[in-house]
Amino acid sequence: MFFVAGARNAAKFREVDILDKKKTVTALKPGEDRAILLGLGMILCSMMMYFVLGITVLRSCADSVWTEEGTCAVINSTVTGDMNCSYSCGSNCWRVSRFPCLQVYVSVNNTGRIGRLSHNEETQDASSECVYIPRCQKDSAAMRAVIVNISQHLKTNQHVSCFYDPSEQQDTVLLTRLYDHSAAFHTLLWPSCTLTIGALIIVMVNLTQYLSRLCEEIGKIKR
Ligand SMILES: *[C@@H]1O[C@H](CO)[C@@H](O)[C@H](O)[C@H]1NC(C)=O
Ligand SMILES: *[C@@H]1O[C@H](CO)[C@@H](O)[C@H](O)[C@H]1NC(C)=O
Ligand SMILES: *[C@@H]1O[C@H](CO)[C@@H](O)[C@H](O)[C@H]1NC(C)=O
Ligand SMILES: *[C@@H]1O[C@H](CO)[C@@H](O)[C@H](O)[C@H]1NC(C)=O
Repeated sequence: MFFVAGARNAAKFREVDILDKKKTVTALKPGEDRAILLGLGMILCSMMMYFVLGITVLRSCADSVWTEEGTCAVINSTVTGDMNCSYSCGSNCWRVSRFPCLQVYVSVNNTGRIGRLSHNEETQDASSECVYIPRCQKDSAAMRAVIVNISQHLKTNQHVSCFYDPSEQQDTVLLTRLYDHSAAFHTLLWPSCTLTIGALIIVMVNLTQYLSRLCEEIGKIKR
């Protein structure tokens, strides 16, 4: 008899408790829902960014063989001839322009190896001989000026810092790297920020919920 009454009482208390909880939850609901959705959206976004960037930039970083930095001494630097390039002159319109191809051989100070110099990975991919491929434009004199500038720079600075492949699979030596540690860092920075903020929003909403429930309970005890 006593037990049954006790159990009934407890059940009643639980009911009240649940009702109370429901009240606070429904009171906070619309804003919270949106916040949670925003948080989840940001986390999803960052996952997608990690995925896309991971298979582009990070793979290029990992594939890059020019890992060692050294000093390069210019051996010779010659203009081998003109290269054709095409620039856009509107929709479906391409015109041909030309720029001089500057070929530079250097010796890598640290190893004594001789290699052809290239501006970066993209230049190395695009051309087998030219140091630098300017953005194609109508004004070929401007492109020539850029190349002459580089040639002058290499004449006055006989030693330049450069990147080479320590395993000697690649003869080409790079002046600058597109894909290095700082590129990897910047690639991962934005998705990581988004992920952190998204997770923070969700944690904050849960914390708010928890605190409001706590407040409610304290209020009940005081009453
Ligand atoms: C420049 O040096 C390289 C390596 O020694 C050599 O193969 C090339 O023929 C030289 N080019 C000219 C124009 O002297
Ligand atoms: C560039 O184009 C001209 C014709 O406009 C052609 O005669 C020449 O062979 C081309 N040069 C190269 C390197 O493709
Ligand atoms: C390497 O470069 C330094 C200057 O950066 C120079 O003093 C040194 O003689 C060079 N060594 C060789 C082997 O070329
Ligand atoms: C040549 O290079 C210098 C700096 O290295 C730069 O100030 C100048 O604008 C360049 N000129 C051209 C035509 O690119």
